[in-house]
Amino acid sequence: MNENPAVRRLADWDAERLRDLADAHETPTYILDLGRVRENAARLREAFPDADLAYAVKANTTNAVLETLEATGVDAECAAAGEVKRALDAGFDGERIRYTAVNPPDRDLDYISEVARAHDIVVTVGSEDSLDRMAERGFQGQLCVRVNPGVGAGHHAKVQTGAEPKFGVPYDRATAVVERAREVGDLVGIHAHAGSGISGDDLSAHEEFVARMGDLAREVGDLEFVAVGGGFGVPYHEDEPPLDLHAVAAATREALGDVSARMAIEPGRYFVADAGVLLATVNTVKETPETTVVGIDAGMTTLIRPALYDAYHAVRSLEPDVPRKRVVDVELAGPVCETADVLARDRPLPEPTRGDLLAIGNAGAYGYEMASNYNSRPRPAVVALDHGDDRLVARREDLTDLTRLEH
Ligand code: LLP
Repeated sequence: MNENPAVRRLADWDAERLRDLADAHETPTYILDLGRVRENAARLREAFPDADLAYAVKANTTNAVLETLEATGVDAECAAAGEVKRALDAGFDGERIRYTAVNPPDRDLDYISEVARAHDIVVTVGSEDSLDRMAERGFQGQLCVRVNPGVGAGHHAKVQTGAEPKFGVPYDRATAVVERAREVGDLVGIHAHAGSGISGDDLSAHEEFVARMGDLAREVGDLEFVAVGGGFGVPYHEDEPPLDLHAVAAATREALGDVSARMAIEPGRYFVADAGVLLATVNTVKETPETTVVGIDAGMTTLIRPALYDAYHAVRSLEPDVPRKRVVDVELAGPVCETADVLARDRPLPEPTRGDLLAIGNAGAYGYEMASNYNSRPRPAVVALDHGDDRLVARREDLTDLTRLEH
């Protein structure tokens, strides 16, 4: 058996263990297997042995995940002051942190210019204006310029960044902004991210975007790294093949061409997606002329990806009598009073009944991280598994938490 398979499917999780965890911690609860996070890091490292490897922490900033990845030696790619603070708190040295904010608020830049004095953080700017704003704060440290490569990629229009004007310096202005950055501080790199969900089916957009970064690197010269983003897709459908990391690595290297700088990659999802499942309980079952509506205690405030991106997540019943149940097509609906709050439609499941425990797969990335309090729903608990133990790493919010910030 492969010790570190390319994917952990929802079917691979031990149902009895998950049932015990649901008994102990109730639902909805995210389960995060830190051992699997380490395995994902090891496979990335193996496929990209000479690249700078960072974790885009936005996928899951739980301290348990950050500490786990810090210990594996990967760097931290941060998109906000809060993420930088969390990375520092989790033990990342400043030299291992890159801050790549989009339209950063003044408050973020104040914090960053302050901590960057004590910790050698690389600050990536996506506009000339943000470069000026760092210069105004007396920043003279390590800088990187984020470029808009004009090529997007990704699983949904809402996560394609490469050609979106919001992100990065326009490609034809990049050289000028790099030169200007060299006047302000120590220009160490250039950066771009095309989008999320690179799939093995077609790497052409990824290759085109990386090739453009290679061209730019050769043009501006004298760089320590060229960061070509993250976006490595994971198989959300159970029958989808996993990404061939070695093929992506080879295509990326080849597209980048001959550059003296190191290549840097910064996946987020790939590190954590299949290390997490969301446990939910069936609250209510309703037959309607259109479908069987299965109401569960997790919804768009627990896992927003289906509502926001029409994302598919595998669902599995963890009931022991599953083999004896007939399979029916159901709509899995959350408890939020909003039409978008449906986690799955037309989904075949062993006929659910009230109290059944369900697991939702690939929930480790952008799940808990994007949870909200809409409809005054308390956020779920998070339990980490490690070396055979389980521990509560984020407690479930209760009703009193909902008003704790109000005067
Ligand atoms: N680098 C930058 C600059 C990014 O903006 C992102 C993601 C990443 C790296 C990591 O991308 P990943 O490897 O995780 O795909 N909430 C969406 C994904 C939004 C990603 C935004 N930026 C989702 O749930 O699919």
